[in-house]
Amino acid sequence: MIQDELKRNVARAAIAHIVAGEIVGVGTGSTANFFIDELAAIRHLIRGAVASSEGTRRRLEGHGIAVLDLNEVERIPVYVDGADEINAALQMIKGGGGALTREKIVAAVSGKFVCIADGSKLVPTLGHFPLPVEVIPMALGHVRRELTAIGGRPELRGDFVTDNGNLIVDVRGLEITDAIALETRLNQIVGVVTNGLFAHRPADVCLLGTADGVQTLTAK
Ligand code: 5RP
Repeated sequence: MIQDELKRNVARAAIAHIVAGEIVGVGTGSTANFFIDELAAIRHLIRGAVASSEGTRRRLEGHGIAVLDLNEVERIPVYVDGADEINAALQMIKGGGGALTREKIVAAVSGKFVCIADGSKLVPTLGHFPLPVEVIPMALGHVRRELTAIGGRPELRGDFVTDNGNLIVDVRGLEITDAIALETRLNQIVGVVTNGLFAHRPADVCLLGTADGVQTLTAK
């Protein structure tokens, strides 16, 4: 089965988690895009959506789905988003699409995080995928030196500016044995907006697309 079919299958399965009459938090990326396309078919059943990026906002609006500002909303029952890597504790690396900060904000306001991913994203240990870090532009040199000092190999993502007007540094070589501790530590570097570890707020459920169907994982 090709990867896009697996993504479409998990996107479809995520619809069962939507709470009728409520707001849905919507992630960013190719898997989230499949979810948006599925959401379009039931848009009359939801109050609207909160988008985790400008790209997601445009796609939602293109389907006629009302997009609300997060500050107009107090509660989002369910957030649906993809991941670059996910482990058995449902901790994730995210930010391959550069939307990590807004994704983390929407996830923080959401009661349930449903991760949708094809089977290739499930890993025993996080860190093969380079860890995205969003950086305030004037702090780039400082943040790079700090990341190098803790054993990382930071690389500036070329020709890329986030929706917040910042830069992304992709970091290889970090040993992620304690994702919660590393998430905290990286966020202490002055000039870092946030990093792509979602360990303090992992997913609650992962819908994993495999050749044998969609598996539902909960944290181990
Ligand atoms: C974007 C993300 C995405 O969820 C992540 O990159 C996965 O993307 P895809 O579904 O295209 O594989 O974190 O910032």
